[in-house]
Amino acid sequence: MKNLKWWQKTIAYQIYPKSFADTTDSGTGDLQGIINHLDYLKSLNVGAIWLTPIYPSPQVDNGYDISDYTAIDPAYGTMEDFERLISEADKRNIKIVMDLVYNHSSDKHKWFLESKSSRDNAKADWYIWRDPKFDGSEPTNWRSIFGGSAWTYCEERKQYYLHTFAKEQPDLNWENPDVRQALYDAANFWIDKGVGGFRIDAIVYIKKPKIFIDGKPDSVDGTFSIHNAIANTAGILDFLYEFRQKVFDGHDIFTVAEANAVKPEELKFWVGEHGAFDMLFEFSHTNVMFPTGEVWHSWKTWKLTKLKAALTESQIATANNGWYPIYFENHDKPRCINNFFNVEFKTRNEELLAGKAIATILLTLRGTPFIYQGQELGYTNTAWDSIDCYNDISSIDQYNWAIRDGFSASEALKFVHKFSRDNARTPMQWSTQLNAGFSTAKTWLPVHDDYKKVNVEVEDKDADSILNYFRRLIEIRQNSEVLIFGDYEEILTDDENIYAFARSFEDKKIYTVINFTMQSIKFNADFLKDSKLIISNYGNIQAENLRPLEAAVLIHNSE
Ligand code: NOJ
Repeated sequence: MKNLKWWQKTIAYQIYPKSFADTTDSGTGDLQGIINHLDYLKSLNVGAIWLTPIYPSPQVDNGYDISDYTAIDPAYGTMEDFERLISEADKRNIKIVMDLVYNHSSDKHKWFLESKSSRDNAKADWYIWRDPKFDGSEPTNWRSIFGGSAWTYCEERKQYYLHTFAKEQPDLNWENPDVRQALYDAANFWIDKGVGGFRIDAIVYIKKPKIFIDGKPDSVDGTFSIHNAIANTAGILDFLYEFRQKVFDGHDIFTVAEANAVKPEELKFWVGEHGAFDMLFEFSHTNVMFPTGEVWHSWKTWKLTKLKAALTESQIATANNGWYPIYFENHDKPRCINNFFNVEFKTRNEELLAGKAIATILLTLRGTPFIYQGQELGYTNTAWDSIDCYNDISSIDQYNWAIRDGFSASEALKFVHKFSRDNARTPMQWSTQLNAGFSTAKTWLPVHDDYKKVNVEVEDKDADSILNYFRRLIEIRQNSEVLIFGDYEEILTDDENIYAFARSFEDKKIYTVINFTMQSIKFNADFLKDSKLIISNYGNIQAENLRPLEAAVLIHNSE
């Protein structure tokens, strides 16, 4: 049990390079900006940095549309900058983790340009091409994840190509062994550069069904969600095992795949010793507000037992199969302070208690915690005045979708405020200087207007800041066998106000208790008898009572 790998004991930090730090006065972040702040990340004891894509890209989906898999986008710097990042990070014992976007490329990738040029070129079947239906319309009624048909017509070939996401993100044809080999070669290129792991994007979509047929429409426009048509198609594991064997095996790296359609009973085939990856990012806990799929205007308030059940299910499922990547934020999600409480907070103090409460869960569950940039500063969502202010392609789609389904423009904008991916993408706030010290130029996305108070410089000096709370929690975790190795057990399972769990290792036990409400809650604290406080977001605890949003970690006295 004690022979865990380095990445099972580390803290991972996700950087959105475009918004991290700009050193060229361009208004977008760059690799030198990351190098300049490695000591900051070291102050959080981070051991791995996941970079969202930094490859050349037309940026239709902010880098998830890649036009060259083995180069650096000039906006971020050069290959030499990347090599310097690896070696500077290495000096601080930090690994760099790259994002592999292998379900699709950009439509500007040379492979696609060739593929679309005729029906008989050398790369003609590197993407997924189909003839029109008899009436000239799309081969199926599948709806892409960013809205509209999942098929786009190509005049040169007089055929349609498939795209799970935007039309500028054509799906690669994994059935073709040359395509697979080209992708493996690209990943091995980065292994040779010394990366410490990979996050693998949208992997559940790489295998397509043998026959393409219309689905029963699930939208007023007669379309059917492509996710339901193709996610986790039988046979996908053959590709994944080959991927593992040709790329990952034999290297001291970790893999974490984005996979939101894998059922707990299938997990053993996906992760662990005999699975394809080390970890899976799944969405069960981040989607508790959506009754079916991520349709923003369909969100509903949710019961705490639903969130707890999702977390507990993942903890149990990964107790013996693979390992859990713990996260509450990433570049696709709203800020956790706004997302995990059925409450609109009125004061910064409430927000800070909430942010610290989520941090407490993040750093005391079993698995590898992933902090998303800004989460450690207590970032909150933005709310811009018009849909035109938003950059995120899915925000625009979801806005139009809400209007199509009968909501007014202002209601549709409210859904965008609540769930836009831009909430997570505003620039990093380093100081009280111009543009929060992120850039001296006009920034690619506006800086959050709270930056004078919410920034590294100010929070560094404040002992009670959420940043310093993160640092304390991380230190506690890194020094605790119980928190690194210990088993997980949920307590007070049916309670709709409190999330409580125990971690135990040998004869030692640590408890985490969180009040998710704005009321003081009396509870049966028998299980905490003989335990003493390690850390809490109030600084102290009361017997048998949890104050609003209170989070506490206690250790049973026997340690
Ligand atoms: C998941 C990524 O996290 C997201 O940002 C992107 O838009 C899609 N995959 C498509 O690559």
